[in-house]
Amino acid sequence: MLKNKKIVLGITGGIAAYKSAELIRVFVKAGAEVKVIMTRNATEFITPLTLRTLSRNPVATDMFDAAQPYDMAHIALADWADAFVIAPATGNLIGKIASGIADDLLTTTLMAENKPTLICPAMNDKMLANPFLRENLRKLAGTGYRVMQSDVGELACNVTGAGRLPEIPEILDELEALLTVQDFTGHKVLVTAGPTQEPLDPVRYITNYSSGKMGYALAKAAHQRGAKVTLISGPTKIAPPKVETVIFVRTAQEMHRAVMDACSKASVIIKAAAVADYRPRVTAAEKIKKDRGLAGVELVCNPDIIAAIGAKKKRGILVGFAMETQDLLDNARRKMTRKNMDMIVANNLCDKGAGFEADTNIITILDRFGGCAALEKMTKQEAAHRILDHILSLKMKKGPAGKK
Ligand code: CTP
Repeated sequence: MLKNKKIVLGITGGIAAYKSAELIRVFVKAGAEVKVIMTRNATEFITPLTLRTLSRNPVATDMFDAAQPYDMAHIALADWADAFVIAPATGNLIGKIASGIADDLLTTTLMAENKPTLICPAMNDKMLANPFLRENLRKLAGTGYRVMQSDVGELACNVTGAGRLPEIPEILDELEALLTVQDFTGHKVLVTAGPTQEPLDPVRYITNYSSGKMGYALAKAAHQRGAKVTLISGPTKIAPPKVETVIFVRTAQEMHRAVMDACSKASVIIKAAAVADYRPRVTAAEKIKKDRGLAGVELVCNPDIIAAIGAKKKRGILVGFAMETQDLLDNARRKMTRKNMDMIVANNLCDKGAGFEADTNIITILDRFGGCAALEKMTKQEAAHRILDHILSLKMKKGPAGKK
C-alpha cells in the first residue's frame, strides 16, 4: 500500500530518534520513497548521514543551509509529499504545531503542508501527562492530524509508564490506514478467524491447521478502511491486528456464543474461522490413558455458526469461506446457498500459494447474484482488500437495505 508513496519523515529531538533509522528501512522496504527533515536537536541523537544512507535521499536540517538540495525546502517538501510522519514527536514540537509556531525547517514545512499527517508522540511519562501537552494533542487530533497513542513500557529514563514510541509495525499500519480510502466508515464489521480447539482431556484437543492469517488480514484491512471492527479469534500463534474489539475464544461453542452476541450490531459479517465440525461429547476430567484407548470417545456435531446467522432474517452482508480439495466452485456455491450467505470466498487447499499457513492466497469470490471473480495469487492482505471491494459492490447491488 506504500508502493510509490512519497513520505516526509520529520524527526525531533528525543531518545526514540534512534528508532527512525529502522522506520525509514521499513517504509523503503514497503516501496515508499522517504525524505527526512530533522530538527537541530534530533541531530544530537542520530546523524543525518545514517538517515541519508538509509533513505537514499538528502536529509534537510536547516532552513537557511545554502548547501541543501531544495529550493525553498519547506514548500518543496510540502508539495512533494503524499503524507507526513513525525516520529518521534516531542512535546515541544507538538506544542509548536498546536500554537502555529514555525521557527525551524520542520515546523515551517508542517505549517505549509496540507497532506495526511501522522504524529507519533514519544517522551517521558510525566511529560506525556502534562495538561498543556494533553490539550495540544487534543487540538491536533481535532484539526485533522492523526495522533497515535504512545506505548506503555520501559522508558529511557529508567521508569515504566506511557511514553514509548509506538512499535514500528504499528506506525506502518497507521500510515497505511492514513493513505487508504475510508470507504468502510460507518460500517461495523465482525470477523472470525483462526481454528477452534475441542478438548478431549486436559492434554489433548481436536483442531485444524488454520493459522488465522486470512481472518486477521481482513480485520486489519477493514479497520484501515475506517470500519469499526470486532475480531473473534480462536487460538493462533500470531498477534491480532489493532482493531476496536478482539475477543479470544477456544471452542466452537464459545465462538458460537460470542458471534451470536455480536452479530446483530454488525453490518458486515465475515466468517473466516475454520470451525471444528465435531467435538468430543464429553471432555475427560483426567488424562485418557493409552491402555483405555480412544475407541470410547464419542464425537458430536458443533453448531454451524454461519448457518445460524444465515437463518436470521435481519442481518448484514454475510460472507463465508470454503476451503476445498475438489470441485471447488460447485462445493462453494452449494455452501453459499445452503447457509444463506451473500458471498463466499473459495480456495483450493491443493493450490501452491494457497491454504492455511501461507502468506499468500488464490481465491475465487462468488456471490448470490451470480458474480464470480477468480483472482490471481496475491498476499492475504491484498486478498483481504479485494474481498472488501467485492463486499462494497455487493452492498450497492443489495440497495439501501444492504447499506450500513
Ligand atoms: N462454519 C461455521 N460453523 C461451523 C462450520 C463452518 O460457521 N461449524 C463456516 C466457516 O467459518 C466458513 C463456512 O462455514 O465460513 C464454510 O466452512 P466449511 O468448513 O468449508 O463448511 P462445512 O459446512 O463444514 O463443509 P465441509 O463439509 O466442507 O466440512
